[in-house]
Amino acid sequence: MTTHRICLLPGDGIGPEITAEAVKVLEAIGRRFGVRFEFEEALLGGAAIDATGTALPDETLAAAQSADAVLLAAIGGPKWDSTDPDAPRPEQGLLGIRKALGLYANLRPVRIFEPLIGASTLKPEALEGVDMLIVRELTGGLYFGPRAREREVEGAGAGGSRGMRAYDTCVYTEMEIERIARVAFEAARGRRGRVHSVDKANVLESSRLWREVVHRVHDAEYADVELADQLVDNTAMQLIRYPAQFDVILTENMFGDILSDEASMLTGSLGMLASASLGDGTALYEPSHGSAPDIAGQGVANPLAMLLSVELMLRHSFAMHEAADALARAIEGVLADGWRTRDIAGPETLPQRTVGTSAMGDLVAERI
Ligand code: IPM
Ligand code: MG
Repeated sequence: MTTHRICLLPGDGIGPEITAEAVKVLEAIGRRFGVRFEFEEALLGGAAIDATGTALPDETLAAAQSADAVLLAAIGGPKWDSTDPDAPRPEQGLLGIRKALGLYANLRPVRIFEPLIGASTLKPEALEGVDMLIVRELTGGLYFGPRAREREVEGAGAGGSRGMRAYDTCVYTEMEIERIARVAFEAARGRRGRVHSVDKANVLESSRLWREVVHRVHDAEYADVELADQLVDNTAMQLIRYPAQFDVILTENMFGDILSDEASMLTGSLGMLASASLGDGTALYEPSHGSAPDIAGQGVANPLAMLLSVELMLRHSFAMHEAADALARAIEGVLADGWRTRDIAGPETLPQRTVGTSAMGDLVAERI
């Protein structure tokens, strides 16, 4: 029997609750499709800081590197929030593992589930035909450029006195732009053949290089794909005005972070947005949402973004397309039958069909 070894990183907040549902559903998939999934759990984020003092312990990185795929739930919480630059932060765990595994390509599919159209704050007409893929560069830009907080800088304080100054730098190399552009163009070939490259080339030098390199890669290797440039502020507006125009959105790290939260609202809830982070080695899958500390431990979190991330893992890491299709159909079926977690419940949802995290996981697992 084929065995796939999955490194589980439940992290913080609702992380452990939604991880349990992923394991439940993977076990159902294993039984139905005759494969074995082996799980190894490791610490990341706040949980790791509490246990070891660092957000990304060496053992966690080793476990992730030696697994066939990594499934991460969510990290962070108010307990570890601090503006002290020297305090360890849960986010260092997430950024650290992305960098260490070389996960430069983050894919965030935004697809509308017909039964959830009412859960979106947008009019149903605006959502017609929405099916996009955000390709976010994940290991460059402002997140990883040179940064500092300088003290005692002349003129930086009130009234021109000495004070503090801080900076983050957005750095991109041609190589980094080329490889993420290829990911977007390849993805577009398997879809509707259109890429919007999003930048701020009217202001930023890094965006001007971005635009140049994206066009060079396009003209040389992907002239069959339709390419349009769009400024990021315009994209933020177009996502709400006419979201169906987008097929693949290609963008740098921070713009992708912001635009993907915005785009998740087309689906009705951030709890429906999955993601795959790919590089040259082990891939990592995680929901795009955070650790939702406000509802942690209550059993009400929506596990569907996590389960949709499992779907991406089945496809990209294990080439189990039939199983991935079965999982997607199971999720669609559960939604079509009216089952909802709190975040996606609408006025039309029957109270007896509003379920918690574990019941939602059961409903999906039963349909595999
Ligand atoms: C995301 C998250 C992370 C990011 C945070 C938690 C560091 O918002 O995956 O979108 O900014 O990349
Ligand atoms: Mg984000």
